[in-house]
Amino acid sequence: MDLSDIFNKANKSKIFIDRSYLRPDYIPKELPHREDMINGMGMILASALSGSRPSNVFAFGMTGTGKTAVAKYVTNALLEHSSKIKTPIPIAVKLINTRENDTSYRVLAEMASGINLKVPFTGLSVAELRARVISALRTRNIIYIVILDEIDSMIKKIGDSFLYQITRMNEEINPSQMSIIGITNDIQLSDNLDPRIKSSLDDEQIFFPQYKAEELQDILSQRARVAFLPDALDNDVIPYCAAIGAREHGDARRSLDLLRRAGEIAERKGKNKVTKDDVEDARESLDNDRIVDAIKSLTFDSKVLLLVMAMSKIRGRDKLTSGELYAGYEGIMNEIKGQRLTERRLTELVNFLEMSNLISANLISEGRGGRTKHIYLKTEPKRILQSLSDDPQLGDIVNMINGNYLA
Ligand SMILES: Nc1ncnc2c1ncn2[C@@H]1O[C@H](COP(=O)(O)OP(=O)(O)OP(=O)(O)O)[C@@H](O)[C@H]1O
Ligand SMILES: [Mg+2]
Repeated sequence: MDLSDIFNKANKSKIFIDRSYLRPDYIPKELPHREDMINGMGMILASALSGSRPSNVFAFGMTGTGKTAVAKYVTNALLEHSSKIKTPIPIAVKLINTRENDTSYRVLAEMASGINLKVPFTGLSVAELRARVISALRTRNIIYIVILDEIDSMIKKIGDSFLYQITRMNEEINPSQMSIIGITNDIQLSDNLDPRIKSSLDDEQIFFPQYKAEELQDILSQRARVAFLPDALDNDVIPYCAAIGAREHGDARRSLDLLRRAGEIAERKGKNKVTKDDVEDARESLDNDRIVDAIKSLTFDSKVLLLVMAMSKIRGRDKLTSGELYAGYEGIMNEIKGQRLTERRLTELVNFLEMSNLISANLISEGRGGRTKHIYLKTEPKRILQSLSDDPQLGDIVNMINGNYLA
């Protein structure tokens, strides 16, 4: 088959009209079952249209409950409306994902970009950067709505005093005004925040409850109408994706991911209908992706430990003692001329791998009061090799093993 055949075939999908409607960043024209949160946030932000600063908002709820989608939806609508009428003061909005921008510098740089202020990517001190943002806001006269998304991960990384600093910036930017929308999926976060931050951040709170299965069905059906060809979905596909999402803390993202992946799998099989089996396969494939991502994000030495476990398992050994594992680790480190960690540190890494569910370990008593750890791999070796095959430092070794393994 040549390329044009491949492209033609892709063109004539028997499953999708337009799969981009299932993409995670697509915001539909309506968000079913989020009317209350939309209206609530809309009412708070509406004061910007008459030139007064909206209250800060604290939005919280489990993952996949529509927090980011609602914040984008409402602020897009606000900007659209403000472009049509004459507002007394111009409005600017910036959504900052603080998991991706996880230093004070990056958050401030994002705040600068939201008001078209050019700042160097690195090099300034945080204090200097902050001063530049403040001075830019002073010379303008705007209402600046800053959405700090996923603030729990920022707080974990850099503590909560920076968040406090941001909430206080409003006092220094006259005549401009700033409102903060803080979003988190850590339900306990509000209780654990420093009371000063809490009182400055949550003038208003909006809670996002978990979606129930029927609500997820509505959300999926709305997307399916535009994304899938008529009759491309078996009747039980949407209820099944919704049921899985509902069981996993009412997560719309999970349900949508399942639906999209199931469609892709059915299409790859050359079918013209998505069935429940495809959803099962999608679930497995997404779980696999999750594990691959988890492995890729490990520290280098943890990857080496996993690699030793995988190599042993391929050679038919299910279990290693900690001594054997560390010896294998040393072997690889010698091979690549890497710096070895102390045994104490390696023990910590083994505990972390155990917590991440990638390995399991049992303490076994041996004669004379001695004890040793027996370590088992909980993931297929194939997955580990697959995850590490493009690792800059381990890729070569992995591909060599892969070559022998497949041969
Ligand atoms: N009511 C809804 N209608 C249509 N799509 C929705 C709705 N709620 C959520 N979604 C979609 O589900 C996915 C997850 O939603 P969103 O990203 O807003 O979740 P979140 O609450 O921000 O989760 P997290 O805490 O993990 O960031 C997105 O693709 C979003 O468009
Ligand atoms: Mg979000």
